[in-house]
Amino acid sequence: MCGIVGYVGAQSALDVVIAGLKRLEYRGYDSAGVAVLADGKLVSAKKAGKLVNLEKELVAQPLPAGSTGLGHTRWATHGGPTDVNAHPHLDNSGRVAVVHNGIIENFAALRAELAERGHRLESETDTEVVAHLLAERFEAVRGAGGAAGLAEAMRQVCRRLEGAFTLVAVHADEPDVVVGARRNSPLVVGVGEGENFLASDVAAFIAHTRSAIELGQDQVVELRRDGVSVTGFDGAPAAVRAYHVDWDASAAEKGGYDYFMLKEIAEQPKAVADTLLGRIDASGLLTLDEVRIPASVLREVDKVVIVACGTAYHAGMIAKLAIEHWTRIPCETELASEFRYRDPILDQRTLVIAISQSGETMDTLMALRHAREQGARVLAVCNTNGSTIPRESDAVLYTHAGPEVAVASTKAFLTQLVACYLVALYLGQVRGTKWGDEIEAVIRELSDIAAAVDRVLETMEPVRALARSLADKDTVLFLGRHVGYPVALEGALKLKELAYMHAEGFAAGELKHGPIALIEEDLPVVVVVPSPRGRSVLHDKIVSNIQEIRARGARTIVIAEEGDEAVVPYADHLIRIPATPTLLQPLVATVPLQVFACELATARGNEVDQPRNLAKSVTVE
Ligand code: F6R
Repeated sequence: MCGIVGYVGAQSALDVVIAGLKRLEYRGYDSAGVAVLADGKLVSAKKAGKLVNLEKELVAQPLPAGSTGLGHTRWATHGGPTDVNAHPHLDNSGRVAVVHNGIIENFAALRAELAERGHRLESETDTEVVAHLLAERFEAVRGAGGAAGLAEAMRQVCRRLEGAFTLVAVHADEPDVVVGARRNSPLVVGVGEGENFLASDVAAFIAHTRSAIELGQDQVVELRRDGVSVTGFDGAPAAVRAYHVDWDASAAEKGGYDYFMLKEIAEQPKAVADTLLGRIDASGLLTLDEVRIPASVLREVDKVVIVACGTAYHAGMIAKLAIEHWTRIPCETELASEFRYRDPILDQRTLVIAISQSGETMDTLMALRHAREQGARVLAVCNTNGSTIPRESDAVLYTHAGPEVAVASTKAFLTQLVACYLVALYLGQVRGTKWGDEIEAVIRELSDIAAAVDRVLETMEPVRALARSLADKDTVLFLGRHVGYPVALEGALKLKELAYMHAEGFAAGELKHGPIALIEEDLPVVVVVPSPRGRSVLHDKIVSNIQEIRARGARTIVIAEEGDEAVVPYADHLIRIPATPTLLQPLVATVPLQVFACELATARGNEVDQPRNLAKSVTVE
């Protein structure tokens, strides 16, 4: 949610910043802006709309070259997506520029205070107050003979701010310095040779360096060409964690695909295999050493609570079924945004699992903080190394999906499922749950699951053709039972966010309690059918549900296991998926729904990677 880049070094700051913003545009695309220090002056440009608008502006009105600069791509919170509200924001002297991600909750009071002191604020944003406060504090620090002017000014300003913020600033009087600050929103340092970078995400500087430093909560960083220094908001030197980014620039590029989403869908077999790699040994034992919660604590757990949002929440719904079925520990899955407001019952014997691709989702972060305050242990399932959610959890199991750039989550979802299955099996293992044949089969099948996902991908052409033929429909419904229900919800979510169509997922058994009234002639209804093996009662029930909706005119699009002949008479369109153990079925059943939504969005002329109103990383509550 908002992408930020800062640079100081020998290269053209504008080129580095614009290239970085291109890689961060997934975080927000309501406006974009840059500021550069050139010949002792601060110059800036900003434009509403996507980055391309700013690039056109820079061609029409080029900025002078400089080697210190910053940039921003915005997801609007305070103030609409206009040129004036775009970042960077400058103070009245035009010598300070600031970009910001997050929300400054006490901005109204600060704004009134600044107005009383004669400052003129032009935008409706909360960010502009920071530029003005920084300019004031910079003068005060300089007047007092302070050396690190901008960094000290930033520390003083941050101590006055409430809310969540990542800030990056430059000042014309410190031409070789970029200063950043972080509370509750992401900011990483890229360490180069004679140059250094700041960004919301390593993707912004991965083309230049793979050495990164993770900034902690309430820290201020000062970047010069030859050094990086980090302190707390109180000025005390801070310990930081340096790490090597284990993917390269090509992972954050489209690699020949038209959209990142297509590439990320295609990468799923590898993402799934990478997430399993090294975590199950040859004898079928799980080796999750990174889950640093002692086995003695896990043995005492009497309840598991999963918190997550959106697609990650759907992964959590499936994880609940696996955890309860395989370990017999009661498990609830909760929307992170609702969790702490309903006074949940938690104690030292509760294990909370926080699932998040970005590791920055504010709702999930707040839920996990609440859980820890109540004494619960928190295990994060996360895709982003060093992000806030794993940092604040007791332990983390990383998914190895690689960077997910398209706003709609695909490969992260599949890897979240895999990680949750591993956690469920691991819980069973440390607690000595008796391994039945079923679990042995699941462990065996997991090692083949990447190949099964690959097989699904090879058979997607009819799904694409079907999606194109439905481009003028207004509504698509999705039905499922058991694990098929969250899959149905996920299919509907993908269609809403990409195709901007009315799409709803229902538990198929609920249909007769109301939603069946929606069924009308030729309404497309996607039905996710459980395996006829194992839980065959469930299978038979859903076959009846298909007959019920078809009798009322629905056009049935049936996703069913290879060899399931019972569905054939009632399927207007049949999408086959490989046979898997029931609980693993979402790994193969979700893929056609991702392809379906992506193709429908394209057929309707929508932006697949950057759907309207959305941003990849939601760092506000
Ligand atoms: C939908 C989607 C979102 C995210 C949700 C949580 O395609 O991507 O629903 O799943 O915003 O994000 P993370 O996993 O980063 O916490």
